[in-house]
Amino acid sequence: MSRNIAIIGATGAVGQELLSILEQRQFPIKSLKLLASKRSAGKTIKFKGKDLTVEELTHDSFKGIDLVLSSAGGSISRDYAPSAVKAGAVVVDNTSHFRMDPNVPLVVPEVNPLDIKKHKGIIANPNCTTIIMSLPLFPLYNAFGLERVSVCTYQAASGAGALAMDELKSECVALGQNQTFERTVIPFQYAYNLFPHNAPYNDGSEAKAKVKAPKGYCEEEWKMVAETRKIFGDESIRVAPTCVRVPVLRAHSEAINIQFKKKTSVEEIYAVLAKAPGVVILEDPANNHWPMPVDVSGKDPVFVGRIRQDLSQENTFDIWVVGDQIRKGAALNAIQIAEML
Ligand code: A2P
Repeated sequence: MSRNIAIIGATGAVGQELLSILEQRQFPIKSLKLLASKRSAGKTIKFKGKDLTVEELTHDSFKGIDLVLSSAGGSISRDYAPSAVKAGAVVVDNTSHFRMDPNVPLVVPEVNPLDIKKHKGIIANPNCTTIIMSLPLFPLYNAFGLERVSVCTYQAASGAGALAMDELKSECVALGQNQTFERTVIPFQYAYNLFPHNAPYNDGSEAKAKVKAPKGYCEEEWKMVAETRKIFGDESIRVAPTCVRVPVLRAHSEAINIQFKKKTSVEEIYAVLAKAPGVVILEDPANNHWPMPVDVSGKDPVFVGRIRQDLSQENTFDIWVVGDQIRKGAALNAIQIAEML
C-alpha cells in the first residue's frame, strides 16, 4: 500500500540519501513532502525526475502523513515528532533524542526486527557506529556469547552532517595549497589530522553533569555501550569504546576486539560471518586489500575483513569492519524499518 511520506531534514546529508534510497528501492509512495528549515523553504530537489519544493517544517506539516523520516537533529525531533504522532503518523527518527526512551524501540532490522511491533508512534534509528558494529557482532554474540568487546572507531565527516563534509573538502584544498582555513563546523583541524570524537565529554565536573556518558567518556562512546545493550536486549554486554574522527568523507571503520564466552576458532567465525545478514567478507590477503572507506562508500552492506586470533589472550579475536555511515549507518537502516512497518 502506498504511503504519504514526509522527510524532516530533506536537504541534509541523511535526508538526501533517504531520497535516493526511496527511489532505488521503489518504496511505495503516494505523496512525498520535503521539510527543512526556513532557510531552505522554496528550494527544489529532484525526486524520480520531478522537482519537489522544500517546505518549512511547522507543527502543521503532518496532516494526512503516514510516515515521517526525521533527520534534522535531536532538538527538532524532540519538538516535532510528538506533533507528527498526534497527526497519526509513525516517525522513524534518526536522531539520538528518543533512543534510550523505554517506550521507543531502537531497531536494527537484522538484529531486533520484532521490536518494531512495540512502537507507540516513534521508532528510533540507532547511532551509526553502533549499527555498523551490530551487524557482525550480533550473529557472533548468538553463536559464541560475548565476554567483552573492545572497539576503536575511525569515523567519517558525514556523521557531523553535510556542512562538515563540505568543510573537510574545502580544508583539504586550502591546506594542500598552504593557505589558511577558517573552520565553522568542525572544531579542530580536520584535513591531514584526526581527533578523539568531539561529542560532549564528561570530565566529572558539575558543569558536565548533563552529559549522557560516564566520567572519562564522550557521548558517542557511551551510545555504543548503551544502545548495543538495548538493541541486543542484554544489559550484561560489556563494550569498551574509543571513538575517533578521521578525515574520511562518508564511511566509518571500526577495529573490534572480541572475547567470546564459548570456545571458538577463526574458521567458525568465518562461517558465522559468511551467513550474517547485511555483512560481506571482503579480503584479498595476496594484495593486502581489506575493506576501506573508498570501497564501501555508497554501498549497502557492512564489510568485514582481517578476521584473526588475538594472540595475547585466550578465545579472543579481531575483526576490521567498514560501513557507509550515511547509508546503513543512517538512511538505509531507517528505510528498512519503514519497509518492515
Ligand atoms: P537546512 O538545510 O534548511 O538547514 P545535516 O545533518 O546534513 O547537517 O542536515 C541537517 C538537516 O536538518 C538539514 O536538512 C537542515 O535544513 C535541517 N534543519 C536544521 N535546522 C532545522 C530547523 N530548525 N527546522 C527544520 N529543519 C532543520
